[in-house]
Amino acid sequence: MPLAGLVDALDKEELRSLLDAAMPDALLVHDHAGRLLAANQEACRCLGYHPGEISQLNIADISRDLDIAAAQSLWLGVEPGSRIVLQGHHRRKDGSFFPVDVHLGLLDRAEQRLYVAVFRDATEALRESEARFRATFEQAAVGLAHVGLNRRLLRANDKFCEILGVSRDALRVLLSGEGEGALEEGSWHEPAIEEALLSGARGSVSAERRIRPPDGRTAWINVTVSVARNDDGSPYYFIVVMEDITQRKTLEEKSEEHGRQMDALMKEQLIAQTAAALAHELNQPLEAIAAYSEVALRAMQSESGWSEQMQRAVLGCNLQAQRAGQVLHDLIGQLRTEGDDKKIFDLNTLVRDVIERVRTRESLNFQVRLMLDPALPQVVGNPLQIEKVLHNLLRNGLDAMLGAGITDPSFTIASHRGADPLMAEVSVQDMGPGIPPELAQVLFRPFRSAKRGGLGLGLSISRSLIHAQGGQLWLERDASPGATFRFTVPIADEL
Ligand SMILES: Nc1ncnc2c1ncn2[C@@H]1O[C@H](COP(=O)(O)OP(=O)(O)OP(=O)(O)O)[C@@H](O)[C@H]1O
Ligand SMILES: [Mg+2]
Repeated sequence: MPLAGLVDALDKEELRSLLDAAMPDALLVHDHAGRLLAANQEACRCLGYHPGEISQLNIADISRDLDIAAAQSLWLGVEPGSRIVLQGHHRRKDGSFFPVDVHLGLLDRAEQRLYVAVFRDATEALRESEARFRATFEQAAVGLAHVGLNRRLLRANDKFCEILGVSRDALRVLLSGEGEGALEEGSWHEPAIEEALLSGARGSVSAERRIRPPDGRTAWINVTVSVARNDDGSPYYFIVVMEDITQRKTLEEKSEEHGRQMDALMKEQLIAQTAAALAHELNQPLEAIAAYSEVALRAMQSESGWSEQMQRAVLGCNLQAQRAGQVLHDLIGQLRTEGDDKKIFDLNTLVRDVIERVRTRESLNFQVRLMLDPALPQVVGNPLQIEKVLHNLLRNGLDAMLGAGITDPSFTIASHRGADPLMAEVSVQDMGPGIPPELAQVLFRPFRSAKRGGLGLGLSISRSLIHAQGGQLWLERDASPGATFRFTVPIADEL
């Protein structure tokens, strides 16, 4: 039998019990005046009324804050065969309220509009979604807070308080404006920004700030503020998301400091090496002057006829040349004693760090095939000076490759124990044009540069820096492709 036929065949009581059995949801029927005409068992149970009592009631009696005129105009929107979904609160007989989701449909009789309201107690669903929201809010990895438009703290998760290093109570005071300045200079709320957020001119605002929490440390935070809005678009409260970025900031500061140290070291080395190179260049002519003047002096003493004045002049020349030679000698000695700040460290880590730093500081992109021996013991030396050497070698290789029109420069950098087992060896190979034999002879001498703008000091400085560690720096003969430079650093005492 089709369903319609079945319904026709049932009497009223049978229909009611069928509805009760088939409907797990609560069902009410009311007219356009709101008068309740029928209810199933579940509806009576939910509302706490006896079935007989329901027909005495109006929908306004079982709803919270229902404006019947407003409700009626809403009901008029329900068309035959369709339904609307409403949310609200129902009132039980005992006066308590519970949230409901209502599906409202129309029984369109010719003589009057009757409405079928199927509703479900939404307490559970609401509780579940609140629990989900609370868990998300509480367990978020960032600090979250909701702040009323009047700056009253509505809620903040533990992380938020932890980042600021304050209790919730202290946070309340801080946000109210009374504790302003407790964490930083300047204002916590900037009226112009608040205004832009509230008016919707800006969706959200982010800023990095340095704060000084009460426990005395200095921290960096990233704050993003946006506005939660009501259904009608009016502002409801501020959403503040806070991230602790102290670690990132500290790293940035450290890297800048490192860069400054490198620059200072480079300048020092440049001055020292220029002085050493000049001293070296001047030493030879001075020695020659001293030797020639000595020959002249001896000749003057064996031959007669030279005036005493002339002899004194040549003697003075000889003595001054010797004195200048001594001054240069002392200067060279002094320059060589620099750079004694030695440490024990991991050479492989240094190699990796330097590559990263050259990439970021010089904003150059290049590939590196790393072949670092993981079993390489720690070495002893001045890491900053070794970094300088690696930096020079990479810089030279890049210059050579870019100069030869290679657009994707790449290196192979390897580390292993040296031929001398007390030394660690690093090799830096590029894919450039290599070094012609005639240049290879004089490569490490100062002022030998084949580059425009090159001083020709990089390799000579690098070699003396490696010597200062007790190691060697050399160019590998007949290496190909490109050029391969190798240097050694003493392995730290393995005991
Ligand atoms: N990897 C390399 N491939 C090819 N030629 C190189 C390479 N490294 C160095 N050279 C050559 O050796 C010369 C000397 O290098 P060095 O680093 O001493 O001085 P520079 O790079 O010219 O100047 P700077 O004082 O700025 O370092 C370079 O001008 C270049 O011609
Ligand atoms: Mg160079």
